[in-house]
Amino acid sequence: MSSHHPVHRVAIVGTGTIGASWATHYLARGFDVTATDPAPHAEAALRSYVAAAWDAATTLGLSPGASPDRLRFTAEMRHAVADADFVQENAPERPELKVKLFADIDDATPPEVIIASSSSGITMSVMQAGCRHPERTVIGHPFNPPHLIPLVEVVGGRKTALETIHDAMSFYASIGKKPVHLKKELPGHVANRLQAALYREVVYLIEQGVLDVADADDAVSWGPGLRWGVMGPNLLWHLGGGEGGIRHFMDTLMPPMAASLWPALGNPQLTPDLQEKIVHGVLEEADGHSIEELAAQRDAMLLGLLTVRAKYAASGPPIAAASQST
Ligand SMILES: NC(=O)c1ccc[n+]([C@@H]2O[C@H](COP(=O)([O-])OP(=O)(O)OC[C@H]3O[C@@H](n4cnc5c(N)ncnc54)[C@H](O)[C@@H]3O)[C@@H](O)[C@H]2O)c1
Repeated sequence: MSSHHPVHRVAIVGTGTIGASWATHYLARGFDVTATDPAPHAEAALRSYVAAAWDAATTLGLSPGASPDRLRFTAEMRHAVADADFVQENAPERPELKVKLFADIDDATPPEVIIASSSSGITMSVMQAGCRHPERTVIGHPFNPPHLIPLVEVVGGRKTALETIHDAMSFYASIGKKPVHLKKELPGHVANRLQAALYREVVYLIEQGVLDVADADDAVSWGPGLRWGVMGPNLLWHLGGGEGGIRHFMDTLMPPMAASLWPALGNPQLTPDLQEKIVHGVLEEADGHSIEELAAQRDAMLLGLLTVRAKYAASGPPIAAASQST
């Protein structure tokens, strides 16, 4: 997809957890979607996922003409991508499979069309190795579930063209996503590294007996997590610095954090006992509620937060919600 190549039809390659959610998002944004997956029953599973997720998509706002009826399915990958204007790949996270699949998708897709991968951990430099047109391949890594969570991490491989990154960023922004460009490839991209950094400390605090599992969750979700749902940590420190803002924060509050607190952060040993302690604590915290029930509650509250953010987007400073229009 160059800047001059409008997107009408999106191909979804792989329709598991992430592919089905991406398909819902693209349908909700008013695209024709052709999905492909070699698994038996994949089409039925995909259609039932889209039907179940359509209420949430509707709450967030549908683009003109959006309909689940504009979903087409074929088990033949080459048919799915042949007339696509944008490809979103979501196959299993196995390097040898992705390298081969990318070479095949590249071979079957018109050369001006962007091929994006949802991969969480395999770099585009690895995946594009067998492509004849690697310049149009890019990582577009979503946060689960992509029909609700706006973040997409965009990062190119060694052979990705700058124009591809620019066009992918513009495309994702135009369909209600919040793309963030990573200027370098690195393991875990960025959002998963941030989760890992925080979770290492959570596990350390549990290991040390400072907090039990439920208290650790409360300490995140009823405190900093609430604020992080509306602003990032840098901007929050600007507010934390009082009248002097971020400059005052950097001069007075940051040095002791860097000097005393950073070195005191933990590096727990993930032993079987510690794993068992966390499993036990989480099951106790879930208090008999099924994963489906908890996921429904999470999604309902996420929808509420996204709706609030959209309401403030018109008037607010740079923390506004992602756009919802195509
Ligand atoms: N699950 C997450 O939370 C998450 C979040 C962000 C990104 N991702 C990434 O998304 C991708 C998919 O992950 P998932 O969790 O949806 O996996 P999944 O196992 O739920 O789905 C993978 C799908 O790919 C299909 N498949 C197998 N071989 C294929 C092939 N050759 N061509 C096309 N499809 C094929 C499978 O039948 C399956 O339906 C991975 O790269 C993963 O890193 C996952």
